[in-house]
Amino acid sequence: MKALAAEIVLAEHDALIAPHGGVLRELYLPHTEAEALKRLSASLPQWTLNQRQLCDLELLLNGGFSPLQGFLGRADYDRVVNDMRLADGTLWPIPITLDVDEAFAARLQENAQISLNDTQGTPLAVLTVEDVYFPDRIAEARQVFGTVDRTHPGVAELLDRTGSVYLGGRVQGIQPPAHYDFSALRHSPRELRDWFHQHGWHRIVAFQTRNPMHRAHRELTLRAAEQVGAKLLIQPSVGRTKPGDVDHYTRVRCYRALLEHYPHDHATLSLLPLAMRMGGPREALWHAIIRKNYGASHFIVGRDHAGPGKDAEGKPFYGPYAAQELLAKHEDELGIRIVPFPAMVYAANRDVYVPQTEVQPDDEVRDISGTELRRRLHDGDTIPEWFTFPDVVKILRERHPAHAPQGFALFFTGLSGSGKSTLAQAVVARLMETSSRPVTMLDGDEVRRHLSKGLGFSREDRDANITRIGFVASEAVRHGGVVICAPIAPYAGARTEARQLVETHGRFVEVHVSTPLEVCEARDRKGLYAAARAGKIKGFTGIDDPYEVPASPELRVDTSKSTVAEAADRVYEWLRNEQLI
Ligand code: PPS
Repeated sequence: MKALAAEIVLAEHDALIAPHGGVLRELYLPHTEAEALKRLSASLPQWTLNQRQLCDLELLLNGGFSPLQGFLGRADYDRVVNDMRLADGTLWPIPITLDVDEAFAARLQENAQISLNDTQGTPLAVLTVEDVYFPDRIAEARQVFGTVDRTHPGVAELLDRTGSVYLGGRVQGIQPPAHYDFSALRHSPRELRDWFHQHGWHRIVAFQTRNPMHRAHRELTLRAAEQVGAKLLIQPSVGRTKPGDVDHYTRVRCYRALLEHYPHDHATLSLLPLAMRMGGPREALWHAIIRKNYGASHFIVGRDHAGPGKDAEGKPFYGPYAAQELLAKHEDELGIRIVPFPAMVYAANRDVYVPQTEVQPDDEVRDISGTELRRRLHDGDTIPEWFTFPDVVKILRERHPAHAPQGFALFFTGLSGSGKSTLAQAVVARLMETSSRPVTMLDGDEVRRHLSKGLGFSREDRDANITRIGFVASEAVRHGGVVICAPIAPYAGARTEARQLVETHGRFVEVHVSTPLEVCEARDRKGLYAAARAGKIKGFTGIDDPYEVPASPELRVDTSKSTVAEAADRVYEWLRNEQLI
C-alpha cells in the first residue's frame, strides 16, 4: 500500500481529519541537515531534559502537538494560561514550556541556541531561544489547574519542581528519543495516519487511558465505536501518568491481551508518549487536540477525564462531567467529535454491561474498584470473569503476586532534636525483633555523610537531599523493602515529591514528629540551637529557616508528650493495622 501513487495517498489522506491548525508540524530536519545540526550541537550550551520535557519534545517533534513549532514564548504562554488560546487565537489549553534554572538562563546570549539532550547526553533537538521569561507559576496553577493545592500532582510539579525561568523558541529535530520497549506499538502521527489510510480507516474514535483495561472498558469502547460508526484506536498514555499508577510495561501487556477480545479489524493499539498533568477539563481538551493530530475523527471522554482525585479536603478537584462540558463547548471549533460516555457497570441479573445512566431499578449492579482489585490480587482472591479476562488477570497476578509483602517507606519529618532518629531506631528495633524483612535506614545525618555529601542547607540543597532520599527509598520499596527515613525535610514540596517517587511502587507513611520547638531547643543535644541563636549557624530550621508543618501526615507524634517506646508502639501498631507488617 505504501507504494501507491502520491496523488492517491493524498486523496485518501484528505479523507482523514486535518491536523489542528491545518498542517501537521513535524519538526525533524532532513537527514543531512540533522547531521550538521548534531555536529553543531556539541558546541552549544547543553540542557538535559527531564521526563516531562522529553515527552513534550517528542510530541513537538513528531507533530503530535501541531500547530506548535517549539516551546511557548511569553505572548503564547500568557494567552494559553489565561484564555486557552495561542497568541494567534488557536485553541490550545496546556502551556508547553521549557523550564530551566536561573543559573542556566543567565549563561545564554541573545538568540542563543541550546542542545536539548536525553539523560544519556544524546542531542535530540536544538532550541533557538527567542524568549526568556519568569512565569508567575502560582497564577499558572490557578488558571490551568484551577487550584494551588499541592495534593494535585500537576500543581506540586509546577510549584515545587519546575525551574523559575521559561525558554521559548523554535525547535529543530535531530533524532527521535530512543525507545527500546514496545517499539512496534509506537507511532508518530504521520505513521498512524498512513496506517489508517492503508487499512481504509477514515472514521476513528480514540480512547485515552492510564489504567489497565477490563471488560467495562471493552464494552464502553465498543459501544462508543458502534454509536458513531467508527473504528477504535486505543491510545494509552505511556509517557508519565499519575504517581502510583500501574507501570506501563504491565499495562501494555494487558492492553495487548485485551485487544485479542475485540472483533477482528475493529480496534488497534498505539502508545502515546504523553506526560500527563492530570489537568481535568483542560487536559481533556488537549488530549482531543493530540488525537486529532494522530488522525482520529472522534474522541471518547468519560467520567472525570484526566482527574487527579481528591484535594487536601477530600473534595474532587473537578466535577465528574466538567471535561465533557468543556469539550462540548469547543467541539465545533475543534473539529474532532466528542463522544461523551458515562461509566459502564455490570448488571449481574442480566449478565450485561450497561451505561450507568441505563441501569434499571431491579438491576443487581456490580463493580470492582481499583482498590478492591489490588486487595484481591494481594490476597489471592478470585477476580471474576465478568470483571476482566483471565489472560489479563494472569498478567496482573504475575506483576502483583499474592501475599507478596508490600514495600513501604516510613518517613519521619520534624525539627532538629524532635526525636526523629531515636524514634526511627526504636521502630527499626521493633521491626527486626518481630520480622525477618530487610530494613534500610536513611537517617538525616547519615545520609548527609554519604548520599548527600557536599550538600548544604539552602532550600535547593535541602530539596535535593530529600529527592535523593525519596529516590533511594523508592528503589528499595520497588523490591518490596522497608525503608525508614528520618530527615528534617522542612519543605512540603520536597516531601510530596518523595511521596510520589515512593508511591509509584508502594506505600509512603509520613510521620510528623511534632515535638514543639521550645522542647527541641531545650534539649539541644548537639548544641546547634545555641549556636544558631548566637548567629554562628545561619539558616537553622526553626530559628531563622522555615519548617512547613505537614498538612495531612499519616501519623503525628510528639515526643514531649510520650516516651520514645510509646511513640514507637503507636507507629508499629499503625503499620500493623494497615497490614503493612
Ligand atoms: S534537611 O533539611 O532535611 O535536608 O536536613 P537533614 O538532612 O535532616 O539534616 C539535618 C541535620 O543537619 C544538622 N544541621 C542543620 N539542621 C538544620 N538546619 C541547619 N542549618 C543545619 N546545619 C546543620 C542537624 O544536626 C540536623 O540533624 P538532626 O538529627 O535533625 O538534629
